[in-house]
Amino acid sequence: MRKISIAIDGHSSTGKSTLARQLAESLGYVYIDSGAMYRAVALFALRNDLIDGSVNEAGLIEALRDMDVSFGLNSQTGRTEIHLNGENVEQEIRTIEVSSYVSEVAAIPEVREKLVKLQREMGRQKGVVMDGRDIGTVVLPEAELKLFMTAAPETRAARRYKELLDRGEDITYEEVLKNVRHRDHLDSNRAVSPLKQAEDAICLDNSDMGLKEQFERVRSFANRILNAK
Ligand code: DC
Repeated sequence: MRKISIAIDGHSSTGKSTLARQLAESLGYVYIDSGAMYRAVALFALRNDLIDGSVNEAGLIEALRDMDVSFGLNSQTGRTEIHLNGENVEQEIRTIEVSSYVSEVAAIPEVREKLVKLQREMGRQKGVVMDGRDIGTVVLPEAELKLFMTAAPETRAARRYKELLDRGEDITYEEVLKNVRHRDHLDSNRAVSPLKQAEDAICLDNSDMGLKEQFERVRSFANRILNAK
C-alpha cells in the first residue's frame, strides 16, 4: 500500500503527540515530535550557559553548526526518542526549565532554519506522522493529511494541571491557565512561522471529544486518502 505523510499542528496541550503516536502505531509509520527538537536545542543552551535570564542568541547560533539533533529508536519501547549530540535526552527535555525557554529558542530564525531542514529530510520518505506548529504550512506543505488541533484554553489548562499535579508539581490552575494563554500568544505572534492553520487542514476541536472518538475519526480520514485511486 502507498504511504502518505500526516502533519499535525495546533495549540499546546491539545493532545497532538498522543494522537500522532496512535496514528503512527496503527499505520506502522514513524512518529516525529518536532517540538522535541526545539526542546533539545533549548536544553543545549541551558547546559552550556547560553541562557542567563534570556537566551544568548549569538552564542547559540554559533553553536548550532556543530550541534547534532536526531532521533533514535528505543528498542525496548519501539518509540523514536530525541538525541542531542548522540545522547538520549527524551526525559531531560520535559522539565519546566526547558519548557520556560523553548518558545524563545524556537523564535530564533537560524534555529528554525536548521531544524526545518532536518524535518523535511525526515518527511521526504513518506510514512511519517509529524506534529508541531508549522508542519502543514512550512515543513511538509505537500502532506496528504493535515490536521489542526485546538480546544478551549480552560480545557487545555485543566488537562495540563492534572498532568502536573500527577507529577507532584506545586502549581495552581490559574498559573497553568496563564501559561497556556502566554504560550498561545507567543506561538501565534512570532515573526517566523507563526502557528496558523493551513488552508487545506482539517480543524479538530477536541474540547468535548474523547481520545477514542478522536482517533477513529482521524483514522477514517487517513483511510479515505489511502483507499482513493
Ligand atoms: O510541542 P512542544 O510543547 O514540545 O513544543 C515546544 C516548543 O517548540 C513550543 O514553544 C512550540 C515550539 N515549536 C515550534 O515552534 N515549531 C514546531 N514545529 C514545534 C514546536
